[in-house]
Amino acid sequence: MSLAVRDLTPDTLDVPASISHRHLLDLDDWTPREIRTLLAGAERMREVQMRPGAKLDTLRGQVMVNLFYENSTRTRVSFELAGKKLGADVTNVTASASSVTKGESLIDTVRTLQALGANIVVVRSSQSGAPDVIAQNIAGTVLNAGDGWHAHPSQALLDLFTMERHLGDIAGRRIVILGDILHSRVARSNVWALTAMGADVVLCGPGTLLPPAAVALYTTRPVPGTGATRRVTVEPRIERALAGADVVMVLRLQRERQQAGLLPSLREYTLRYGLTPERLKLAQPSALVMHPGPMNEGVEIDPAVAHGAASVIEEQVTNGVAVRMTALDALASVEVGTGTERW
Ligand code: CP
Repeated sequence: MSLAVRDLTPDTLDVPASISHRHLLDLDDWTPREIRTLLAGAERMREVQMRPGAKLDTLRGQVMVNLFYENSTRTRVSFELAGKKLGADVTNVTASASSVTKGESLIDTVRTLQALGANIVVVRSSQSGAPDVIAQNIAGTVLNAGDGWHAHPSQALLDLFTMERHLGDIAGRRIVILGDILHSRVARSNVWALTAMGADVVLCGPGTLLPPAAVALYTTRPVPGTGATRRVTVEPRIERALAGADVVMVLRLQRERQQAGLLPSLREYTLRYGLTPERLKLAQPSALVMHPGPMNEGVEIDPAVAHGAASVIEEQVTNGVAVRMTALDALASVEVGTGTERW
């Protein structure tokens, strides 16, 4: 059923009903039901997003701070747009323009923001675990916008939302994550989310960029709520990995990896692991090509693939707003101290 924007009230959105998390730190402890609830809400939020000028007031009176210690375009802007669409007062703090440059600690910064009225903190940091530390030191809600190599849960949710808009239920689908798995917070959060929804995830990349214990890390952590074993395999041979894939998610290759001695050269990487039109033919004819961005076109992905018919890369960016609107709305609605919230 399609709802008119005027009908989209907190009751009709029905997002928070099945989500008991107060923070979005990662997705390893989210049940399939919670993820499904959030995706359903995002579908409705998308209607609000797509109507110019349309707004909800579910976060009216709430103060949201985007605390970005690392550069970002997509995540920062889409969180800002999402907060404003929900009626929150939104402000942005970057490390270079804050008292962090004078030596202020993370905890003192967060307490200062809280003293200024902030009750929703969206944080991007190069330090793995920074959002968890903030969550332990603030009375409000924390959303992880990417921390070190650890997690990028809102990216994984928007990736999943984009896949399901094209493929429907992804249970049993073959989803290949290609590239620098070792350093990728996007890959980590995606594996938790995709396997929770029953997908078969294949991790592919050079041996130096594939964590040795990747499969064990996931298969020893059953899906919460169902107890199902997560289905993850590692396949360093790209042709085998791509065979029959329903989705190919390409990861950015950071140029520093070559300086760190993990790759012979970027050219060698492109030759062996770059996603070209020829390699993409090994996947299903209807396969989707995804990339969290920013892309190094001509390195990990051929421009003809990045902008080709199979690419949903720009759609991922667009969907980020609706998904983040839903996450903000759902989490900020969980009442503190009721015993229903958990990390
Ligand atoms: N995907 C992603 O996190 O992009 P930004 O660094 O631009 O936010």
